[in-house]
Amino acid sequence: MHVDVPLWYRDAIFYELPVKSFYDSNGDGIGDINGVRLKLDYLHALGADCLWLLPFYNSPMKDDGYDISDYYSIQPEYGTLDDFRLLLAEAHSRGMKIIADLVMNHCSDQHSWFREAVSSRESPRRQWFVWSDDASRYSGARIIFTDTEISNWAWEPRTKQYYWHRFYSHQPDLNYDNPEVREEMKNVMRFWLRMGLDGFRCDAVPYLFEREGTTCENLPETHAYFKEVRRMMEKEFPGTILLAEANQWPSDAKAYFGDQDEFHMAFNFPLMPRIFVALAKEDAYPIVNIVKEIIPIPEKCDWAIFLRNHDELTLEMVTSEERDIMYSEYARHPKMRLNIGIRRRLAPLLDNDRASLELVHALLLSLPGSPVLYYGDEIGMGDNIYLGDRNGVRTPMQWSYDRNAGFSSADTEQLFSPPITSPNYHYGNVNVDSENRLPTSMLNWVRKMLSVRKRYAQVMGRGSIKFLEHRNRHVLSYIRSYGEDRMLCIFNLSRKPTYLELSLPEFSGLRPVEAISGAQFPRIGDLPYFFTLHPRSFFWLGLTEPTGSDEEG
Ligand code: NOJ
Repeated sequence: MHVDVPLWYRDAIFYELPVKSFYDSNGDGIGDINGVRLKLDYLHALGADCLWLLPFYNSPMKDDGYDISDYYSIQPEYGTLDDFRLLLAEAHSRGMKIIADLVMNHCSDQHSWFREAVSSRESPRRQWFVWSDDASRYSGARIIFTDTEISNWAWEPRTKQYYWHRFYSHQPDLNYDNPEVREEMKNVMRFWLRMGLDGFRCDAVPYLFEREGTTCENLPETHAYFKEVRRMMEKEFPGTILLAEANQWPSDAKAYFGDQDEFHMAFNFPLMPRIFVALAKEDAYPIVNIVKEIIPIPEKCDWAIFLRNHDELTLEMVTSEERDIMYSEYARHPKMRLNIGIRRRLAPLLDNDRASLELVHALLLSLPGSPVLYYGDEIGMGDNIYLGDRNGVRTPMQWSYDRNAGFSSADTEQLFSPPITSPNYHYGNVNVDSENRLPTSMLNWVRKMLSVRKRYAQVMGRGSIKFLEHRNRHVLSYIRSYGEDRMLCIFNLSRKPTYLELSLPEFSGLRPVEAISGAQFPRIGDLPYFFTLHPRSFFWLGLTEPTGSDEEG
């Protein structure tokens, strides 16, 4: 990394992984912390600067660890606290960072806090949760898991009251009006930060508080609490970060940056689905429009931009017209849908079309924000829509064409999930080992692109963006600038070849140099610059002052 260390997250490439799915070091069929550690060299060579680990805390695993039953320990199958310390140390020794998912809004109904709370209405833990005699309170709050839940209230038969839950009913919401809860969650954070963790991806941040007559999302109390958390982290653990999972419309999502005193980063949920809409419509407008809405943001903050993650591709923050396009283009089979979203991986979403896969990666790496890759997408892994819930996008990482995709030495029946064996994505073919050996593989291409992105980390990570005016709606083009550095990015979103005439008077005299290969293009003059573009192709062109030795052509 090149610039101020405390702003490391602005230049970083993030890599998201579920511990369970990555690598099984002890042959029990389940990935573990030591497994992640053993694969650090792979991740480092790929170009990951910061790992985001999905929840690894003790849990009954009814929501894959987002149902925590003890915030201070690790799920035994995943390893021990010592294993985790070692992972941190080895990541840090390679200059890599690690952030962990932290589920603050709710815990598991198996957590001792909830068990105590339901033991009697007089329990001292009772007020750690949100109770009601009737299920009509807070009716303005939407239901998130629409396929499974019909209410945000669940009946507790023993103490005969309803408790509040925004997600599965086995995930009771914690009561943030209770100062004990607020303090306890800070203590949880201190525990992991003291160990050397570099920050948190905070789960479900909009929902911490409830207020009658509101949607119970993004309330001022929630912002105030995160500001308090930020103050604590800045004082006690400088350099650590908070990343918000707030699946919200642009203005509400932006609010989580506060005045540079709340979250350092927030996922760019508004942008993500619009990249896919733009491809489906072969039209740059959805991307241009949303990027204009989501910037600017405060200088020390950044969007975390992503294409896919461990959940369904959420369509909550798009218009109904956009949703229809998404479903008809990307989710023709009913099993591809879940809640308000599409549970597929990147490669299958794009019909495994290499040009489209490269195009979306080039967008991810050049739009404003820090890219977050989802494990397996770098090798073009497939999914399994026949597995329940979101499990089809969390299958074992494919390391080689050996038994169990090289993920585990267990009997195949023992694996937490079958590896992908469908013909087009079979692990025999789609795996790290084979792709390492094929110079033109997706993996080698992604690795190369990440290294190019790092070379231009400042302009891509911190530069301003300006969309260029032209008459071809199939083509998205923008200039990223930072100091003297300028990168011209051009994307043909269409399935057909096309051409583009760009008027670039302010860059007259400069020479475009293709960023991946270093190929030089003719100098920009006073006439419009002309490009021909293959279907779904792109250019990243550094604009440089020509030197005396430059030759045309
Ligand atoms: C968002 C997480 O990404 C998702 O996987 C989880 O089910 C919910 N929050 C509830 O914690």
